[in-house]
Amino acid sequence: MFHPSRIYSFYISGHIRGKLLLEIGSGPCIHTVIPAASWFDEIILTDFSPSNRDMQEKWLNNDQGAHNWDNFFKYYSKLDGNEANWQQLEATLRPKIKRVLPCDVYKQNPLDPIQLDPVDVICTSACLESACLDKDAYHNAMKNVVSLLKPGGKLILIGVLNCPQYTVGSEIFKCLPISRDEVINTVKANGLDVIELFDDDSSAEEGTTIFNGTVVILAEKK
Ligand SMILES: C[S@@+](CC[C@H](N)C(=O)[O-])C[C@H]1O[C@@H](n2cnc3c(N)ncnc32)[C@H](O)[C@@H]1O
Repeated sequence: MFHPSRIYSFYISGHIRGKLLLEIGSGPCIHTVIPAASWFDEIILTDFSPSNRDMQEKWLNNDQGAHNWDNFFKYYSKLDGNEANWQQLEATLRPKIKRVLPCDVYKQNPLDPIQLDPVDVICTSACLESACLDKDAYHNAMKNVVSLLKPGGKLILIGVLNCPQYTVGSEIFKCLPISRDEVINTVKANGLDVIELFDDDSSAEEGTTIFNGTVVILAEKK
């Protein structure tokens, strides 16, 4: 469901760059920001869950027990034609991630009490449908996230479609089953133009994880 080559293609185009990249609902992960390392002065990771933020901090501090992301660095370095030197990419990314912040997409300012200057680029993957129980909440959560973006700023949205629930370890999480068109319409209704759109019909019905389709959208705030 994660689309590394798509995300890479956005960054390698050279158009998705700036002072700050904000990742909303990163979970315990850094994979979506790895290809952005060279294109921003600063990257901020965020999540609602303290344990996910702890995992991010562990990786940043090179702590024991940190998740090993080497394969992702190797993958993106290979796309760069620089696989043998994949550790360079890791060394570029780590100091760019200057903060890991609490975030709640239900809040008007999801980073409250922190006030950021309007952001160049926001990336969010599988977060809004996971956080929201109905479509009104999904619309409002996206509105709250987009409020952090400057006019002309870009949103990279990776969405999981038609997913009522998913499993992490032994925990089952509820999710909002949403269609491709509903995602696109919500993006447009929140004042963004869709620039690029990829979708597929990949699906899963493994145990308690069910989804049918994914979408990757690059959109620009008017
Ligand atoms: C399915 S995970 C996606 C994690 C990661 N972005 C990825 O693509 O692998 C959903 C994430 O949304 C976060 N989340 C849930 N409710 C949230 C909320 N109200 N505000 C911000 N993040 C939230 C969860 O803590 C979790 O890390």
